[in-house]
Amino acid sequence: MDLKIVLPAGGLLLVLCLAAASRSQSPAGSAPVLVKAELPNPPAYTQDGRLLFPAHYREWVYLSTGVDMSYNPKAIATGHTVFDNVFVNPGAYTRFLQAGTWPDKTVLVLEARMGMDRGSINQQGHYQGTQVVGVEVHVKDEARFSGKWAFFDFDDEVSGSLFPKDAACYSCHADHAAVDTTFVQFYPTLLPIARQKKTLSESYLKEEAAAK
Ligand code: HEC
Repeated sequence: MDLKIVLPAGGLLLVLCLAAASRSQSPAGSAPVLVKAELPNPPAYTQDGRLLFPAHYREWVYLSTGVDMSYNPKAIATGHTVFDNVFVNPGAYTRFLQAGTWPDKTVLVLEARMGMDRGSINQQGHYQGTQVVGVEVHVKDEARFSGKWAFFDFDDEVSGSLFPKDAACYSCHADHAAVDTTFVQFYPTLLPIARQKKTLSESYLKEEAAAK
């Protein structure tokens, strides 16, 4: 069978016009236009305003682990050594490396995990057990929250509840955290970047100077 593509004269004109238009949008030699892509793991909510559990946070970028640093009452109530592991969605991490601060739709997860001291061949150190004793999330969603950021608490792996704006989370983070209400002073791969990009908060710089 013989296939023929028949282009009416008008159609050919249209094709030529489209080609000319696309050339005029990006003239040769000009800098490429950067399109701000959406972050791949943005926060998602239920209809009644709960945050959906970030199911894959364990595959996100690891920031640091604190030992017995958590302010989570569930972690403190264990009366045990507790590790807290901090993770961030990968797109937000990449933007932090470029800008020294967080983009909209950043999701930071603080996972409190039971510390263990006796087990297997371990004699005197502490290691992380399989029991997660709490998960808290700090989300930047500028259109949704008047202070840009909000905190959520999870009791299950389905959805978490919003902490009200007068909860202690907001004031401690606002007053003491090094970058944009997040505790970058405890995230060793990020602190040098924030220093270099000069994004450290006034309050943190004052506290740092006073501690010397
Ligand atoms: C007295 C100060 C203080 C209070 C109150 C506090 N935090 Fe934090 N938070 C910290 C510190 C310090 C870190 C650093 C990470 C660590 O603990 O290892 C942190 C880190 C976090 C992180 C990791 C992301 C980030 O912003 O750096 C989350 C999530 C978090 N806190 C949630 C909460 C929630 C939810 C509350 C309120 C229920 C709360 N915090 C109350 C001091 C505080």
